[in-house]
Order: sequence, then C-alpha cells, then structure tokens
Amino acid sequence: MLDLSGKTAVISGGADGIGFSLAKTLGEQGMNVVIADIEGPQLDKARESLEAAGVATLAIEMDVALLEDWERTASEAMDRFGKVHMLINNAGVSGGIGAIGTLDDPGWRWCIDTNLMGVVYGAHVLVPHMKDHGEDAWVINVASMAGMGGVPLAGGYTATKAAVVALTEAWAMELNSSNIQVSVLAPAFVKTRIHLSHRNRPARYPMTTAPGPDVMQIAKTTTQAVENGIDADLLSARVLEALEAGELYIFTHPNYKPVTDHRSAAVASAFDHAADSPLLQDVLKQPLNFGFSDN
Ligand SMILES: NC(=O)c1ccc[n+]([C@@H]2O[C@H](COP(=O)([O-])OP(=O)(O)OC[C@H]3O[C@@H](n4cnc5c(N)ncnc54)[C@H](O)[C@@H]3O)[C@@H](O)[C@H]2O)c1
Repeated sequence: MLDLSGKTAVISGGADGIGFSLAKTLGEQGMNVVIADIEGPQLDKARESLEAAGVATLAIEMDVALLEDWERTASEAMDRFGKVHMLINNAGVSGGIGAIGTLDDPGWRWCIDTNLMGVVYGAHVLVPHMKDHGEDAWVINVASMAGMGGVPLAGGYTATKAAVVALTEAWAMELNSSNIQVSVLAPAFVKTRIHLSHRNRPARYPMTTAPGPDVMQIAKTTTQAVENGIDADLLSARVLEALEAGELYIFTHPNYKPVTDHRSAAVASAFDHAADSPLLQDVLKQPLNFGFSDN
C-alpha cells in the first residue's frame, strides 16, 4: 500500500477539472497539496473546498509557461511544507486546433508554451529538489490519448501531447535508478472545462485570426465528447491505483487501445519494409544503440 500521508504534491492546473480532482484524492490520502493555477477566483474556490475537507492546502496563482512563476511556486511550496514529493504537470489547454495554414502563430505559441514548456519548467525546478531530498517521489505528466496517435485538425494539441509522452519516456529512462517514479497520464475524454480553455488565454497570445468553420465544428464535437466523458474523480482513483502499481503509462480508457494497436501495427509494418530493402541490409546488421538497450 502506497503511504502518501504527510507528503506534498504540487499540482499545476489544480484549481479545476482533473487537477482539482487529483488534489481532492491525494488530500484524502493525507497529502499536503499545492494547487498552482492561472485562474485566481477558481483557485480561491478550490482552496476553500479542499481546506473545508481538512486538506492542508497552498494555492498559488501562476502561469506554467513562465519559468519565474515555477521558481516562485517551488520556493513557496518548500517554505510552507518543507519538501515536495510529487509533481503533477497537469495544466493544459485545448489550443492548437484548425486546418494546416489556418492556425495563427500566437495560437501555436500559447499551446506549446502551456502544454509543453509548462511541463518542462515544472520538472526543471522540482526534479533536482526531489533528487536532493532522496525520499520516494513521483512526476506525473498529463498528456492525452491525442499524444498516442494523430488527431486530424488538432495539430498543435496533438504535437504538444505527443511531446509530453516522449518526454516522459525519456525522463523515465534518465531517472530509472533514482528515487523518482515517472508516469504519463493519457486520458481520452473527461468531463471538465477543457473545451473552454480560451477563458485562460493570456493577452500576450492575441487572437489574430477568427476561428474558421472547421474550428467551430471541432469545438462543437469536442464539447459533446467532453460533456459525455468520464468523471474526473474516476480518473483520480485510477491514477492512485496506477501509482501503486508503478505504471509508466497510465490509461483511463481501455476501450481506446485500438488507437495504439493501429499505430504499432503501422510502425511494425514500415520497419518490415525497411528490413526488406536491399539498400539497408548492411544497416540491419549494425548493433542497436538506444536508451533502453545494453548493446
Ligand atoms: N478533459 C479531457 O477530456 C482531457 C483529455 C485528455 C487530456 N486532458 C488534459 O488534462 C489536463 C487538465 O485539463 P482539464 O480537462 O482538467 O481542463 P480544465 O480546463 O478543466 O482545467 C485546466 C486547468 O489548468 C489551468 N491552466 C490553464 N492554463 C494555465 C497556465 N498557463 N498556467 C497555470 N494553469 C493553467 C486552468 O485554469 C484550469 O484550472 C490538460 O493537460 C488536458 O490537456 C484533458
């Protein structure tokens, strides 16, 4: 049984949706929680609700896309609770939607800075601290099923979530013999306010083009799917179960396995074609030189 009691979790995007649900679930396990979020009023509501449930809570208004905000978050978390044992890089936005050639540059930047650099910065400031204190620690990066297979007309979201999956795989190898367990959470649809992400689009990423009909159609379909998604509290219980089991990939929608099956089969078939190519017979005999290989 995982004993999280008295340990501290920092959860980005912890004011709402999946992040808030994880804060509740971890609080029930006796953890101190630091909820870090860009949406001030929602953050106050979340803190009040967690404190009313008896959870030791620190709420910090911050923007995951800014390294200095992460440094302030880490320092305030350590001032209040001493050590940080768990980082949940959860904050994310549903930006990056639209056909090739229609998505404006600020839209791409908002998506990349939040969904990818937010994860990078969180680990940058907290993983060295976790290594230093040496106690059991966890990094959970929230990606998406969109990161496990391409989603048409959602290039920015897909690219950032695929990057978070790849980053987690790299970090899991890098931290393999350390005190830190690394996981990536890849849900399909969950009932949250993700489809309303634009509520938190910072002014430094202005909308320079109006959304076209393709974007409006995707927005409508996504809204329906999110509203029919699983409950965030079910996801949180599943995360706890997966942490106990030490899972690298945390899936919440086993019915989506065909997504990765399809991709694995296509990749395996492409490798078989490469292996059959007369051009590559010498390369085929060379040793494998990769992270997980001893060769
Ligand atoms: N809901 C789904 O269907 C779904 C599916 C797969 C993955 N996800 C991922 O789950 C994560 C959480 O999303 P959610 O569904 O709970 O959405 P949500 O919009 O309900 O919650 C996201 C939280 O992140 C915060 N946030 C946004 N930008 C931020 C920033 N720059 N800095 C700090 N905080 C910021 C928001 O204020 C909000 O509290 C995201 O990474 C999302 O991509 C969601």
